Amino acid sequence: MTFTQSHLLGIEPLHPVEITALLDLAQDYAEAARAGRRRWDALSDMTQINMFFEASTRTQSSFELAGKRLGAEVMSMAMQSSSLKKGETLIDTALTLNAMRPDLLVVRHPNSGAVDLLAQKVTCAVLNAGDGRHEHPTQALLDALTIRRAKGRLHRLTVAICGDIAHSRVARSNILLLGKMENRVRLVGPPTLMPAGVSDFGVEVEDDMERGLKDADVVMMLRLQKERMDGGFIPSEREYFHRYGLDAAKLAHAKPDAIVMHPGPMNRGVEIDGTIADDINRSVIQEQVEMGVAVRMAAMDLLARNLRAARAPQGVMA
Ligand code: NCD
Repeated sequence: MTFTQSHLLGIEPLHPVEITALLDLAQDYAEAARAGRRRWDALSDMTQINMFFEASTRTQSSFELAGKRLGAEVMSMAMQSSSLKKGETLIDTALTLNAMRPDLLVVRHPNSGAVDLLAQKVTCAVLNAGDGRHEHPTQALLDALTIRRAKGRLHRLTVAICGDIAHSRVARSNILLLGKMENRVRLVGPPTLMPAGVSDFGVEVEDDMERGLKDADVVMMLRLQKERMDGGFIPSEREYFHRYGLDAAKLAHAKPDAIVMHPGPMNRGVEIDGTIADDINRSVIQEQVEMGVAVRMAAMDLLARNLRAARAPQGVMA
């Protein structure tokens, strides 16, 4: 089997061959959905629990839909981040959940590393739906599928990731994935929004949009993550938009056929001009959402296969 993981905690542990296998399966699910097929039984023997300790629209709903389309029994727990008491609560929750015997656990948590910790305490497959500033693997995978469909390949592309890199798990997972697939990654944003140690990432860094977007095949915009800032990172939103917000004039420096991406939620008029976001000739933002369902179906399908193989009695191949 090509995909050997028992959890999906990040892009970091994935081999390029595993990334390609997952994207190929997701591509099949995406095409089948477009052709009208909505029901599968890949997870009909499985229970999926979604635990989101942080707000989410797209990620949570698409994990829910993905599980339902594959025939799983799906439960989303209402987790209030206000009642969160780090560590202790997480372990207690993990033990309670484990007692319910889920097969797939989808977790979003504000602390980097919390999902890895949880994975060590449970006996099911864990999928990271975003942990702090650390990783958001399914987002990078759905971005990769969207890029591959639009550009016909996922290598030797110039990808400009722009804006609040420092607080972004989306940026981190994308940098890892695009690097593994041998693309040229350029991080564009003010020095205050660059992560510490950026010079060790093996990427180019630019603080000017014109230079940063030059000849880019893909322009990926990121939200200003104000909830992770404690003030002083940007002068004002107006000034930020002027220097770093994507508008037609700045986009003109990218390749003429460059695509525009954004993981959502978008702040129109802060990091991106609304007309660019809605331009169906440039923006693939809606397709990213569509690919999100397909990628999450593929990820859960592959993990479920490995789970069944691991649970099968010794000597008996499922
Ligand atoms: C991102 C996230 O939560 O990390 N959103 C998403 O999952 N689509 C990005 C963000 O919050 O800005």
